[in-house]
Amino acid sequence: MERKIKIGLIGLGTVGSGVFKTLKAFPDIEVTKIAVKNINKKRNIEGLDESILTDNPYEVVNDPEIDIVAELIGGIDPAYDLIVNAIKKGKHIVTANKELLAKKGEDLFNIASEYNKVILYEAAIAGGIPLIMPIKTILAGNKINKIKAILNGTTNYILTKMDVQGASYQDVLDEAQKLGYAETDPTGDVEGFDAAYKITTLATIAFKKRIKFENVYREGITNIRPEDMKAANEMGYKIKLIAFAQIDDNGKADVRVHPMLVPKSKTLAHIDYVTNAVTLSGHPVGDVTLSGPGAGEFPTASSVVGDILSIASEFGKTDYMLPMMRCNHSESAQMLDITETENKYYLSITANNKIGVIGRIGKACEENNISLASIVQKEFGSKNCADITVITELAKEKDMRKVIDIFNRDDSIISVNSLIRVQI
Ligand SMILES: NC(=O)c1ccc[n+]([C@@H]2O[C@H](COP(=O)([O-])OP(=O)(O)OC[C@H]3O[C@@H](n4cnc5c(N)ncnc54)[C@H](OP(=O)(O)O)[C@@H]3O)[C@@H](O)[C@H]2O)c1
Repeated sequence: MERKIKIGLIGLGTVGSGVFKTLKAFPDIEVTKIAVKNINKKRNIEGLDESILTDNPYEVVNDPEIDIVAELIGGIDPAYDLIVNAIKKGKHIVTANKELLAKKGEDLFNIASEYNKVILYEAAIAGGIPLIMPIKTILAGNKINKIKAILNGTTNYILTKMDVQGASYQDVLDEAQKLGYAETDPTGDVEGFDAAYKITTLATIAFKKRIKFENVYREGITNIRPEDMKAANEMGYKIKLIAFAQIDDNGKADVRVHPMLVPKSKTLAHIDYVTNAVTLSGHPVGDVTLSGPGAGEFPTASSVVGDILSIASEFGKTDYMLPMMRCNHSESAQMLDITETENKYYLSITANNKIGVIGRIGKACEENNISLASIVQKEFGSKNCADITVITELAKEKDMRKVIDIFNRDDSIISVNSLIRVQI
């Protein structure tokens, strides 16, 4: 009988438990050691022999019997050191850790390559959606030059609820926290960090050039108002937190995460609640959209287990495993600064209801090379002020910022309520 492939898990939380339960269906795979933080925690996992638990993750890393280590704890420290040590001890790695890949990916892939080991990370980008393997294998003949994606379930849930219920950001966040869809500290999700980690790695593999996380522009959803949702709807859009990446013919990359008005004619406008979706544009394939569950115990386990089985299936065949899945690029992409980008904009302004305000808005835009696609004024009779909604044509971000400065100094403009980019 062939020897079973031995797996060490580091982490037995949401993802780790799902991986453990799913792997029970594969008789050739055996989980022989699991590291956790709190060894005394009640686990209630059917079939778990608690004698394989340890609160020292280096016992997993240093175990000579273990072939593959799945790192499922998250964060940089101690995950980075554990993975480096595991590679040096001859293990292949599977990880779901988006933050680690975004910040330390280059380093880790170099070390893996030096020791002839692979790091697979399907779960790290969009939970259960198969994305890395398709890009690296069946889409390998494409030049992918654009990615538009919804990569964070928590923010998509909040925005969908705000849209459906007309509720405020804070009310929906409170509800999402009660239901377990948002963390007690939601910063990582609502400020766009999580989506920025994911688009960093996704754009790196799709463009075959390394994207530096610190150069990825990021804005969250905390300033989105129910009024913006309503206005967007009336104009034929939905507001979504979009992870966007584009590379031009000169190899300059524009990678960012921020809210966007998405036309209702586009697929991403209809990706609701915790579902994630990724549209890849490439040649020769055209546009491909993959969607599905971006998080959760079993969807994420599906990707981790798929990676484990991919590695396991190669054992004993060759000493150079999964060549297409290896990191095969080291050149860093030149990055476009957000101020150099061109976008269409949605702008909401509250102004005194005086003659000439619309004219002043138009003049400031005209003087800064911005054409208006539409401008709508709604009057508040009692307060003698008006809500003005503007959609621009394509304009340079730096010009738009100049115009916002002018509006902020204009006495007849009470407030610039929102500035949101519009997906073209
Ligand atoms: N949750 C998702 O849906 C999802 C989706 C995609 C990717 N991910 C990624 O998957 C990873 C795990 O997420 P999760 O949601 O499963 O986290 P989680 O539920 O908080 O579980 C973390 C696990 O790691 C253990 N742990 C933490 N620090 C440790 C240490 N120093 N040594 C040993 N064990 C330690 C914890 O032990 P105790 O059980 O003793 O506390 C727990 O079992 C993260 O990188 C996350 O970004 C998660």
